[in-house]
Amino acid sequence: MKRTLIAETANCSGQKIKLNGWVNSYRDHGGVIFIDLRDRSGIVQVVCSKELPQIELIRPEWVLEVIGEVKDRPAKMVNEKIATGRVEVKAESVAVLSAAEIPPFDLKEDGYQINEEIRLKYRYLDLRRPRLQRNLTYRHKVFSLMRQILDEQGFREVDTPILARSTPEGARDFVVPARQYPGSFYALPQSPQQYKQMLMVGGLERYFQIARCFRDEDFRADRQAEFLQLDLEMSFVEQEDILSLIENLFRQVIEKVFPEKKIQKFPFPRLPYDQAMKEYKSDRPDLRKDQDPQELAFAFVVDFPMFEKQTERKGWAPVHHPFTRPQTDSIDQVKQNPGDIKAFQYDLVLNGSEIGGGSLRIYRPDMLQAVFQVLGHQDEEIRNNFGHLLEAFQYGVPPHGGIAIGLDRFLSIVLDEKNIREVIPFPKTEAGRELMTGAPAPITPEQLKELNLEFKKKK
Ligand code: AMO
Repeated sequence: MKRTLIAETANCSGQKIKLNGWVNSYRDHGGVIFIDLRDRSGIVQVVCSKELPQIELIRPEWVLEVIGEVKDRPAKMVNEKIATGRVEVKAESVAVLSAAEIPPFDLKEDGYQINEEIRLKYRYLDLRRPRLQRNLTYRHKVFSLMRQILDEQGFREVDTPILARSTPEGARDFVVPARQYPGSFYALPQSPQQYKQMLMVGGLERYFQIARCFRDEDFRADRQAEFLQLDLEMSFVEQEDILSLIENLFRQVIEKVFPEKKIQKFPFPRLPYDQAMKEYKSDRPDLRKDQDPQELAFAFVVDFPMFEKQTERKGWAPVHHPFTRPQTDSIDQVKQNPGDIKAFQYDLVLNGSEIGGGSLRIYRPDMLQAVFQVLGHQDEEIRNNFGHLLEAFQYGVPPHGGIAIGLDRFLSIVLDEKNIREVIPFPKTEAGRELMTGAPAPITPEQLKELNLEFKKKK
């Protein structure tokens, strides 16, 4: 007999069906037992006679196979709160597929009150919570719609390496020792920045990827060690082409996946950085007008300065990254007055959070070299770290630019979650630990030996 999904039972009155799922609740009413059975599609009430074998042993979260007949409930027993509330299933047989320990916490409520470390240790139970089921479902819907929209626009999804070389995005790298090259390390990408630019040299013209990025920084409510970006890059475009592509993409995503939300202003306002700092004292201002939780105030902050003063040592640092194109073609100007140069750089801001950032890129090798010099890199350092890019740019490079959207951040805002961990399947704690499997963890002395690594004893 084929399995019926619980949501379908609403339309199966009079039929004999087979259900699989978990016991959501179990109520003993003397002669009969009511089991609310739950699967990925919903919950339905199953009525069981006490005569059924083993029936009195069953407890919440046990996994069952129920065969029975779907019946209309008497009018006064209808439960309007659930989608299957007009029917119930009269069980003919109930088989226990697996028993369950008593869960360490409640799985039915929103779970915000429960200690988060326990939730993360038992994430596989926490994921049964309707709120997390909803969050992961929306995560899927958003990703698949974004893929579809970009596919229709002629983008190609291209994957790029995880075992890579350090790329400067301003955070610390996670590194992986290379067994075959003692003393050398792969760096996990802080973003696919250099690869996507190489794809433009490679003639792809329109690239995107739902890319995993790794940054070893202090974690916060809106930051994780690893996170996903909707990363894209385009050739032969101006800044406005990228901004309008992105605002149209978000308009479709909101209209199709979150129709109850309202985009406050479309096209999204373009706010020059200087104006944002003057009027809002922030480069990610919250432009919401009222306290309506459905309001989404998107804006692009544009015309960022190209360089900012280094905080730790003398000299200049890039505001975005060194590949960003200055709003001047004059190398002299860049070298002489770095502090005055604006860049073709833009951030996407939503309700006071930075959910994306990007830029047009330098594609002239001499300008790239000049920017590296302003940033204080020595010639040899430039050759060692970026020689591949400078070389590639000598083989016919199209003008290009792109953007990356922080998907976890976007989802947490649009799903009204205060913490991005609530929209990530297996997040890390603020201290950077994944508590379910217990990462990070020591490796064996044999593995260390193989990697030619030795640890100094802590004093
Ligand atoms: P940027 O560094 O601005 O740009 O990153 C883009 C977006 O990624 C999100 N983000 C994060 N989300 C969760 N946890 C983190 N630790 C984290 N760090 C960043 C933010 C941010 O706006 N390569 C460039 C893009 C480009 O130039 O095309 C880049 O990565 O929402």
